[in-house]
Amino acid sequence: MARLIVKNISHCYDRTAAQALDAVSFSVEQGQRLCIAGANGSGKSTLLHIIASCVKPSSGEISIENEGGAKGRAGIVFQEPDNQLFMPTVWEDVAFGIIKKGANPEEARERALAALAEVDAAHLAERAPHNLSGGEKQRAALAGALIMERDILLLDEPTAALDPRARKNLINLLKNQRRTTIIASHDLDMALELADRVIFLHQGRIAADCPVPGLLLDEDFLQTIALELPLAVCGTFRKTHSKVRFSSAQTP
Ligand SMILES: Nc1ncnc2c1ncn2[C@@H]1O[C@H](COP(=O)(O)OP(=O)(O)OP(=O)(O)O)[C@@H](O)[C@H]1O
Ligand SMILES: [Mg+2]
Repeated sequence: MARLIVKNISHCYDRTAAQALDAVSFSVEQGQRLCIAGANGSGKSTLLHIIASCVKPSSGEISIENEGGAKGRAGIVFQEPDNQLFMPTVWEDVAFGIIKKGANPEEARERALAALAEVDAAHLAERAPHNLSGGEKQRAALAGALIMERDILLLDEPTAALDPRARKNLINLLKNQRRTTIIASHDLDMALELADRVIFLHQGRIAADCPVPGLLLDEDFLQTIALELPLAVCGTFRKTHSKVRFSSAQTP
């Protein structure tokens, strides 16, 4: 668990491009589950990469304080899990970080199997990571982040490749842990189910910062930042869904 302070972060990937982030400031209290929501290109991944120290911002500061008041660290699961899977087998990939930190191979293997079991992926332990399906890769990458027990867990579109059961299991797993968690996503249904708070990014700026459900239920606001209502609160979905059920019941 840890506290994060993001102070006036701006970022430009190159001089000719528009700013990916523009004066973004917020703080996250220990144990909070924050969703960073926004349309494609709004700056979500850039923000997570900066918090994880993978990208140095053009300006501004990040500080992470752990429970003891010391400097804390964030662990990230990338939007493209291929970026973090490179060992011959899945379990070795999951164990890579703790082996580097000094765990012996036997203990590391046991802990890797336990982390894989947490994301319902124990059966993938001996597989080659590059042969996995998209959702399997996402689970393996998540196990690799969980095992590190970092102060803050950063997840970039963690449900994008998951099937409905894996998505539900992930939501339950995240709900049942006390770690400070930041999730970048346009899956507003997940935000509704899982997050305490949501920050909406629009063109690199914070458009709103509110407790959940708050603006997740405000269709007019969501449309101004190119998002749509979550399906769970969207009347069109219910109507369409009942029509489909009705017509299939009529078909012999
Ligand atoms: N490596 C890069 N080099 C140059 N521009 C980049 C790079 N990565 C991202 N950008 C640009 O920065 C802006 C923010 O991108 P970012 O990936 O942070 O958006 P995002 O909110 O994560 O989008 P998505 O929902 O598609 O994942 C976009 O305009 C994007 O084109
Ligand atoms: Mg992204």
